[in-house]
Amino acid sequence: MPIRFTPLDPTGADRDALIAFMSSQSFPFHVRTHPTATQISQAIDDGAYADEDHASFWIDSDEHGRLGFFRLEDLSDDAPLFDLRLDTAHRGRGLAAEVLHAATDHVFTTMPEVNRFEGQTREDNVAMRRVFVRCGWVQEAYYREGWPVDDGRLLASVAYSILRRDWRDGTVTPVVWDAPLGG
Ligand SMILES: CC(C)(COP(=O)(O)OP(=O)(O)OC[C@H]1O[C@@H](n2cnc3c(N)ncnc32)[C@H](O)[C@@H]1OP(=O)(O)O)[C@@H](O)C(=O)NCCC(=O)NCCS
Repeated sequence: MPIRFTPLDPTGADRDALIAFMSSQSFPFHVRTHPTATQISQAIDDGAYADEDHASFWIDSDEHGRLGFFRLEDLSDDAPLFDLRLDTAHRGRGLAAEVLHAATDHVFTTMPEVNRFEGQTREDNVAMRRVFVRCGWVQEAYYREGWPVDDGRLLASVAYSILRRDWRDGTVTPVVWDAPLGG
């Protein structure tokens, strides 16, 4: 199932579709679980979807049509992050691993200066965490109580990344947590 990332123009042709996509469904593991049209409109105007740090895309496939939305963040850093949101109709069908593989190919082939590609999710986003592992990404951090949720609980934020050389060689370089400190 070849995946295409179709560049999205949030301030022009794609503005209405982006607002509709974001405000018509829920994102249970995002900070804003039910963004409103007003909030998305404001975020677009603030450059959250396209500026020197952000680039946004529709995720398209010939087989399944438009699967969802993908955004690169922190682009002025050499280690970008991503935001991946499949349309509700396409969640839970085993499609995300292929999307993340394609996104990783996109980043490392089009951005020669990038050595690390990073992602972050909430500890209870089991589907996303399984997708990271399936795609050879490595967990590098577990920020305990780093993600307050609406009901008052303090959940963890979990950070993953993939290195350019692991992507190139098909390897998975683990974090050595108990490396000797010396001294
Ligand atoms: C998170 C998301 C990208 C995952 O994509 P997906 O295509 O729905 O995930 P999959 O169907 O491939 O499921 C991935 C794995 O998680 C498992 N899984 C899915 N939902 C699960 C759940 N609620 N509990 C436990 N396991 C679950 C699947 O069985 C699968 O396991 P496997 O790797 O052993 O086969 C997608 O659901 C989504 O866009 N959600 C809303 C936005 C979001 O949370 N994005 C992540 C922000 S970084």
